[in-house]
Amino acid sequence: MAPMSASAGGSRPFLNRRLAAFGTTIFAEMSALATATGSINLGQGFPDTDGPAEIAEAAARAIRDGRGNQYPPGPGVPELRRAVAAHQERFYGLSYDPDTEVLVTAGATEAIAAALLALLEPGDEVIALEPFYDSYAACIAMAGATRVPVTLRPRDGAFALDLDELRAAVTPRTRLLLLNTPHNPTGTVLGAAELAAVAELAVERDLLVVTDEVYEHLVFAGAHIPLASLPGMRERTVTISSAGKTFSFTGWKVGWVTAPPALVSAVRSAKQFLTYVSSGPFQYAVAEALALPDSYFAAFREGLRARRDLLAAGLEAAGFEVFLPAGTYFVTTDIAPLGESDGIAFCRSLPERCGVVAIPNAVFYDDKEAGRTHVRWAFCKRVDVLEEAVARLGRLAR
Ligand SMILES: Cc1ncc(COP(=O)(O)O)c(C=O)c1O
Repeated sequence: MAPMSASAGGSRPFLNRRLAAFGTTIFAEMSALATATGSINLGQGFPDTDGPAEIAEAAARAIRDGRGNQYPPGPGVPELRRAVAAHQERFYGLSYDPDTEVLVTAGATEAIAAALLALLEPGDEVIALEPFYDSYAACIAMAGATRVPVTLRPRDGAFALDLDELRAAVTPRTRLLLLNTPHNPTGTVLGAAELAAVAELAVERDLLVVTDEVYEHLVFAGAHIPLASLPGMRERTVTISSAGKTFSFTGWKVGWVTAPPALVSAVRSAKQFLTYVSSGPFQYAVAEALALPDSYFAAFREGLRARRDLLAAGLEAAGFEVFLPAGTYFVTTDIAPLGESDGIAFCRSLPERCGVVAIPNAVFYDDKEAGRTHVRWAFCKRVDVLEEAVARLGRLAR
């Protein structure tokens, strides 16, 4: 067969127009820069230490015992579906039927994609809190829908949701609210009053809600409240979470959806044609992880709180304005006090200047101006790595 030429398919670009704007991500560029310059990579949000050894051993045991080595059941292995339901009951008092109301996915990423592909028609509008996790915009685009950002804005040292702005963003074409709490990249955790207002709006305008709660166990101030626990919300909410963040096994890609049967069934219809199934043996291991004692979850949170405080103090000493996150393992800073005005240029120069990589928040915005001077740092790294990063960043202050 002749090799495919660059003009195969005529002059039309290979990448379709829905995805044309999503060609390359800043994460790839920044991680390559980190490698090329030997920099400390505080850009991408993955831990540099694996999760509990007994959970890794549970995965190895599952492989050796022949559990999950062949296609697992489409909805996920029953052990994991039961463990997810038990987790929702144990932490939030939410009751889900493991057989009809839980769906296992290839990480939260597939859950988000499947939910949006299943629930949206071309032309629907989706309201998402900006800055948003990068897959949201791409998945909304793949579904042929339109994203309507509502921008979280700095207020009193944190990023706040303006409820009037949210209300004003709803139109007759709005089908779905896509929420993320605790919120990446700002670290905002939506509180009881905000969630009540969101719930009231969703009920009043009869909207579906997809909530991404992958950082549910990383809340340092207040508590994580699943939107599905509010009045009128269970029946309209698709709740998404994943094992990657909570158990520090981001490569296993085990996620899940909890929702009423008709919503789960819709999401499963899309999911079955994306991966069909995934991560067989890891599903058994994550079932064991979800049943770890409360002490695991507390130690995980407190370990990250200490690392948050270490990095935040170092960033402040280096001259940044720091927005101390109430949740997640990211801290957002403003570079304006350093006399800088462009986060993208700043992040491109940072590896050369002091051997550290960070992510410019502008990439998470439609309204680039709103995030122009904001930069995100991940603190899910070893203490000695963070200490070295802080020492290097100290050069900026001099
Ligand atoms: C807000 C948010 N949602 C989803 C994901 C992806 O989760 P998973 O690795 O389980 O696909 C991430 C990962 O960074 C995230 O930050």
